[in-house]
Amino acid sequence: MDRNLALELVRVTETAALACGRYMGRGDKNAADQAAVDGMRKAFSSVSIKGTVVIGEGELDEAPMLYIGEEVGMCKEDDREVDIAVDPLEGTSLIAKGLPNAIAVIAMAPKGGLLHAPDTYMKKIAVGPKAKGVIHIDDPVEKNLKAVSRAINKDLEDMTVIIQDRPRHYDLIREVRRVGCRIKLFSDGDVATAIATCFENTGIDVFMGIGGAPEGVIAAAAIKSMGGEMQGKLNPMSDEEMERCIKLGLDQESVYKVLTLDDLIKSDDVFFVATGVSDGDLLKGVTYLEGNKAKTQSVVMRSKTGTIRFVDAIHRLNKNEILKETMEKHNQGGIING
Ligand code: FBP
Repeated sequence: MDRNLALELVRVTETAALACGRYMGRGDKNAADQAAVDGMRKAFSSVSIKGTVVIGEGELDEAPMLYIGEEVGMCKEDDREVDIAVDPLEGTSLIAKGLPNAIAVIAMAPKGGLLHAPDTYMKKIAVGPKAKGVIHIDDPVEKNLKAVSRAINKDLEDMTVIIQDRPRHYDLIREVRRVGCRIKLFSDGDVATAIATCFENTGIDVFMGIGGAPEGVIAAAAIKSMGGEMQGKLNPMSDEEMERCIKLGLDQESVYKVLTLDDLIKSDDVFFVATGVSDGDLLKGVTYLEGNKAKTQSVVMRSKTGTIRFVDAIHRLNKNEILKETMEKHNQGGIING
């Protein structure tokens, strides 16, 4: 992919974030998600790509928009063929409750470059660039933490491990406490938290736990771009989830294979683009300003060059036709038109 599509893509996540930002704290995660999906889908139509959604809102029969297999982009004759993973609102409960760290996010790679992850759980471990090469998802927690401690030259008791606050992680939490590391628990949104390991200023050294497999692939796109390391292992928790794995051609054995960063992201030219919806460790959320304006902050990364761009934008909401259409559909016309 030669042309840097970063700035075209950032408009897609900005639109999704602006479309759902009004729902912050309003207790309706489905409405927020739907607004983000609508905004993202419409915004894709102005991007010069021939894209196929490989990680999206679900199968065609369960998701009318951004379903797996849907074609997105301008789809002109000479447009580049790409695979796309979308999460229009990562952290639906976060936005419904007005909590931090909700983002609108996409990853994009040349065709075949992203793992077609089933909608199941995945066990994951992620670290920043300094600890690349020293972890293994099958190793005991203590062995991994000690290896990271040596690699980043930090005492175990000074290291911070971030873990999603779920009962399925109680044993993991107990073990990390026993080893002596600090723990930061988060309620939702494991894309932003996994990639926080690659930004030293977050103070987060290791991400561990079980979350969504689709989110795992999206986070891996950012971690690959930043030179960190991530490994995953599908972790189906029900017969239905196992069925989804089998539908993708996996068998009982290959389901539990260790997925390295290069298995999750097969291409060396992957893009990761995210816009903050609510304030987070990585990005500021959408801020509404006087005079029908709003401010967003996004991050754009490309593994081929390793460039990381933060994009601050001020939007005039009543001049953005795509957004106006989305807002009107979601009964926010009055709000947006002032
Ligand atoms: P949604 O945006 O779909 O609500 O996902 C939020 C999330 O926290 C993900 O970041 C994470 O991978 C997954 O949920 C964990 O699933 P569960 O809530 O079932 O523990």
